Amino acid sequence: MSGKVLLTGGAGYIGSHTYVELVEAGFGVTILDNFSNARRDVIDRLEVLTGAPVRLVEADVLDADALDRVFAAHGFDAVVHFAGFKAVGESVERPLDYFHNNCSGFVTLLRAMDRADVRRVVFSSTATVYGQPETLPYPEDHPTRPESPYAANKLICENLLKEARAADDRWSYGILRYFNPAGAHPSALIGEDPNGIPNNLMPYIAKVATGELPRLQVFGDDYDTPDGTGMRDYIHVQDLARGHVQSLKLLIDQDQSHIVNLSTGQGYSVLDMLRAYERACGKTLPYEVVGRRAGDLAAFWGDPARARELLGFQATRDLDDMCATSWAWVSRRRNG
Ligand SMILES: NC(=O)c1ccc[n+]([C@@H]2O[C@H](COP(=O)([O-])OP(=O)(O)OC[C@H]3O[C@@H](n4cnc5c(N)ncnc54)[C@H](O)[C@@H]3O)[C@@H](O)[C@H]2O)c1
Repeated sequence: MSGKVLLTGGAGYIGSHTYVELVEAGFGVTILDNFSNARRDVIDRLEVLTGAPVRLVEADVLDADALDRVFAAHGFDAVVHFAGFKAVGESVERPLDYFHNNCSGFVTLLRAMDRADVRRVVFSSTATVYGQPETLPYPEDHPTRPESPYAANKLICENLLKEARAADDRWSYGILRYFNPAGAHPSALIGEDPNGIPNNLMPYIAKVATGELPRLQVFGDDYDTPDGTGMRDYIHVQDLARGHVQSLKLLIDQDQSHIVNLSTGQGYSVLDMLRAYERACGKTLPYEVVGRRAGDLAAFWGDPARARELLGFQATRDLDDMCATSWAWVSRRRNG
């Protein structure tokens, strides 16, 4: 497969893994990132992993002039858009910053694409657009009721894409609703590297395993789930990354817009994840149960059927793979 792709946010967690999958699939990829939530040495490590120099543009998706220059220089066939802020809790505290970066940034990008005659885009959406589950697993036609500014941002961006296509059918889009990405590349060269206290469960447990945090706080053990703790649909970041290649292929080869869940269809509890991480790192990890966190859902997982039918996508890695690759990554990072 070939084609030239602009990868915004390509220095980030999911973006860096997707970079590797795209290069391996034969795409020519240019990363655009402002490094607001990524380290510059990710680029060196991507060069080691792929054995080739990385084409990198350090710029902000809110900078229309910079985008015009990038599009003029490259002649892209499509854009894969990851650049954005992603922390649900922070979005509640700083909604205006989130709407500006995530929604204004996306409008700025889409307008630059339109000027450059590039109208294929794969967009990082999220399962949080569904809100309180009416049915599980969530199918893609489940009602959308975002419960945070972050989820509202993503739904606005989805709607922007639908409106753009309704007005001009040269637009095509792949909206990918991710469940809970976890794990790292098996090379242990790239992975999730949050600053401070992580928002997500696996990087939190990883920091307990390395001794950077004293214990895991489990928010509630009185949910209506088999062990009482919250359940989520964790998907290995490499599987997720491969889903983007398959989505791009559908856009480029068949011009077929789509909205799909990228999920495994399987829910795991907080304690399942903790036990799996203990197996990976060979230690018992301390935890304490505290009260429920406002706004947390008890359990959700996604219906993977449409992704299978439309994209031929199926997750192949399980929770043990996620924990083992995460542990290899954090151990290597700690040892320099
Ligand atoms: N990680 C998750 O749990 C999850 C789940 C669902 C959806 N998503 C979405 O997937 C995308 C990637 O997530 P991630 O986990 O890799 O996050 P990340 O923070 O690791 O990556 C985002 C990247 O975008 C860059 N960036 C942010 N704002 C920018 C801007 N204005 N201009 C240029 N670059 C900018 C950051 O520097 C970073 O490298 C995000 O849009 C996120 O909302 C993530």
